[in-house]
Amino acid sequence: MDRIRIIGGNELKGVIPISGAKNAALPLMIASLMTSDTLTLENVPHLADVEQLIRILGNHGVDISVNGRRERQDEGYSRTVHFTCRTIVDTTAPYELVSKMRASFWVIGPLLAREGHARVSLPGGCAIGTRPVDLFIEGLTALGATMEIDGGYINATAPKGGLIGARYTFPKVSVGATHVMLMAGALARGTTVIGNAAREPEVVDLANCLNAMGAKISGAGTSTITIEGVTSLSGARHRVLPDRIETGTYAMAVAMTGGDVTLEGTDAALLETALEAIRRSGAEITSTPTGIRVVRNGGVIKPVDIVTDPFPGFPTDLQAQFMALMTRSSGVSHITETIFENRFMHVQELARLGAKISLNGQTAKIEGVQRLRGAPVMATDLRASVSLVIAGLAAEGETMVSRVYHLDRGFERLEEKLNRCGAVVERVSD
Ligand code: EPZ
Repeated sequence: MDRIRIIGGNELKGVIPISGAKNAALPLMIASLMTSDTLTLENVPHLADVEQLIRILGNHGVDISVNGRRERQDEGYSRTVHFTCRTIVDTTAPYELVSKMRASFWVIGPLLAREGHARVSLPGGCAIGTRPVDLFIEGLTALGATMEIDGGYINATAPKGGLIGARYTFPKVSVGATHVMLMAGALARGTTVIGNAAREPEVVDLANCLNAMGAKISGAGTSTITIEGVTSLSGARHRVLPDRIETGTYAMAVAMTGGDVTLEGTDAALLETALEAIRRSGAEITSTPTGIRVVRNGGVIKPVDIVTDPFPGFPTDLQAQFMALMTRSSGVSHITETIFENRFMHVQELARLGAKISLNGQTAKIEGVQRLRGAPVMATDLRASVSLVIAGLAAEGETMVSRVYHLDRGFERLEEKLNRCGAVVERVSD
């Protein structure tokens, strides 16, 4: 199993190219199940989760080629991938595949909308919380589907003649359930109005892509989304939006180590709340014509309190990284996690580096320390593991992060991007 060795202490200086967003690419790829034409996605990141979804989509009948060639290959930071699903050959998403990645549960929307039925394994819990699927069941039921749980699977069946547009208001904001309602509503008969919809940029990206495919969706990015159902969708070409979580992660790394880095190919508007928190900690952040520049030249890291919230609030996917930054602040800060009930597993690992953090329910109290010291630490989930990398960059000596397969799910060429900026990070294979 690979590990990542970091020798901390260097400032970061240079340019980091930001990849396409994992959490936008996954639902966009799933949307390829909705048409028999080719959906071409540009700026697709090369990540373990993307490769896993490629396998899952292949099981349903999607033919995939990268930059026009049938074999997959490494195409640098930006890949163009073509997805073609002439016919859906299997409407079952089996446990072995869905259990590896929760987002694969979302195929339930397109399968149901296009074929009228789907049998999809329940995803089960995961390290960061129980993550139920009640909102998917309620939403699709509102569109006329019959949803039955049988042997760990959901059997979903649309009425004869297909799903029927309806009004449905989510009792809680869910990114995934909003994605699924967009895809299901796009091919339903009549109008669907989704209330309390997720406003994340990835939802807007999916709506834009579906509209390019012929859907009639308005209001994405607000909490009320209206969908006029159409009978079929066609192919389209769409560029995956930049990864706001990768952007925020590297911005926090620079805020922690000090230095001057330009994050290329991203957009500050995707993560204003997080950037504001980083600014308040003492870093300077400015927009450039093609990205964002983050500078911290000396000075203390100031303590900043944050609370995670659905967009446009502070993203839960940056909570662990911000906690790493706060471990070196000049005072006491508080971080409250409101989205997932078990997303503090990085706390014990940060403590191994010398951080002082105490937990009280969903709030962490972080007392800044003068220095962190390198240590062996273990990655527990994707964002928690990158928080350990950031902390390792700012720690004295060697930090060895094990279980880096978590990192490979969501950070493209992490070592290469950091080393280009003066960090000392290397992958060690056992
Ligand atoms: C997406 O997960 C992201 N994943 C997550 O990123 C992200 O943390 C999360 O949104 C919140 O922003 C992808 O886009 C692939 P939710 P999702 O449904 O859609 C509860 C990462 O590190 N809920 O918005 O699964 C749920 O338990 C990942 O890249 C229900 O109660 O998240 C949670 O408390 C981790 N019932 C809250 O809603 C349901 O039926 C928000 O979850 C569905 C969700």
